[in-house]
Amino acid sequence: MDVESVRRDFPTVRKGMGVYLDSACQSLRPDQVIEAINDYYENYPACGGRSVHSMATRVSLAVDETREALASFFGTDDPDCYVFTKNCTEGLNTCAHGLGLSRGDVVVTTDAEHNSNHVPWLVLQESRGIGRRYSRSGPDGEFDIESFKECMGRDVKAVSVQHCNNVTGCTVPVRDVVEIAHDHGAIVMVDGAQSAPHMPVDLKKLDVDLYCMSIHKMLGPTGMGVMYGKREVLESMDPLLVGGGTVGLSTYDSYNPAPIPDRFEAGLHNYAGIVGTRAAIDYLSRVGMDEIEKWDSILMKRMMGNLEDVRNLHPVGPDDPSRRGSVFSFNIDGLNPHDIAMMVDNTSGVMIRSGMHCAHPFYVDRGLEGSARASTYLYNDFSDIDAFTDAVRHIAEVFGD
Ligand SMILES: Cc1ncc(COP(=O)(O)O)c(C=O)c1O
Repeated sequence: MDVESVRRDFPTVRKGMGVYLDSACQSLRPDQVIEAINDYYENYPACGGRSVHSMATRVSLAVDETREALASFFGTDDPDCYVFTKNCTEGLNTCAHGLGLSRGDVVVTTDAEHNSNHVPWLVLQESRGIGRRYSRSGPDGEFDIESFKECMGRDVKAVSVQHCNNVTGCTVPVRDVVEIAHDHGAIVMVDGAQSAPHMPVDLKKLDVDLYCMSIHKMLGPTGMGVMYGKREVLESMDPLLVGGGTVGLSTYDSYNPAPIPDRFEAGLHNYAGIVGTRAAIDYLSRVGMDEIEKWDSILMKRMMGNLEDVRNLHPVGPDDPSRRGSVFSFNIDGLNPHDIAMMVDNTSGVMIRSGMHCAHPFYVDRGLEGSARASTYLYNDFSDIDAFTDAVRHIAEVFGD
């Protein structure tokens, strides 16, 4: 991967506007995505799927082409299986509520889920009386397949797991999970917010039933997500929102649902976001997801290697960089994570995240008040990593216990 050439495509990198290490929250966007969005607003700012005039037809075609690009990017054949959402959370809620689980049905998650794949199940436990079980992670936060197997039984109707963790960076062996879950007759939905941006994801090979992701973590526009589902699964699900665009025909007393994906896309859409999604997917495809995964791993190795001997710094999650994807969460004795984040920004212009990263149960369970987190992507280079690690080392030595 030609990192220098990639870096030239990103305006905030080109302009030297600080070192961005918060890509697990939201990625930067390249010129190509910004230009696609501007092109929509300047040249065909109409509505797709409704009007038949020329500008609207151009939008409808662009929407179809984005779905086709997604289907090919994720190794599947049917573009209609990709539903546009406003983020990963909306997709996860649509899946959780749409599966029609009721009293006596059980969902299995892990003990390290993001709130977006945790709170919807708590709500369903309260409102519909569903049961919940979660598999316990190992001490480093690694997924434990034995614990997962112990959760499974004939009452389990759905398994909902993250693919990559946003705190520890650990990856769940989704293919194995799917095999076990399907043997028990359970549907598998996956929170792909942290995996889809950073590794090749072949949804056909994984054989997952539902997979949700955040396009704004994948170089795409803010407020864009995608929910994938197998055709028969989507066709059996109820939408979360209904209204314009979601019905075939309604009368004063009845309606019939539109075919997928329209059934799940109520109201007028974020067309600028959809064309920006296409540009983001094209960009990632051109660079290659294998290359991006390799580069993230090289950066993580350097980051953790640089900080290995800082005695009062403690990673949250594995010590081994090859098991952490692209996120490095850590604490420094005597310092609050928000103070660490503010200090690295103020002293060195390095932007990282701090807090509980929407993984509250995981932190509370381990008696931690949170952590600082640096996360990388394809536009980071060694100079970014070294600026971060120099700043952290200095803070740990001067201000830490
Ligand atoms: C693992 C994980 N799941 C879900 C989400 C929620 O994504 P979104 O903000 O797109 O709803 C995030 C966001 O950081 C995440 O890291």
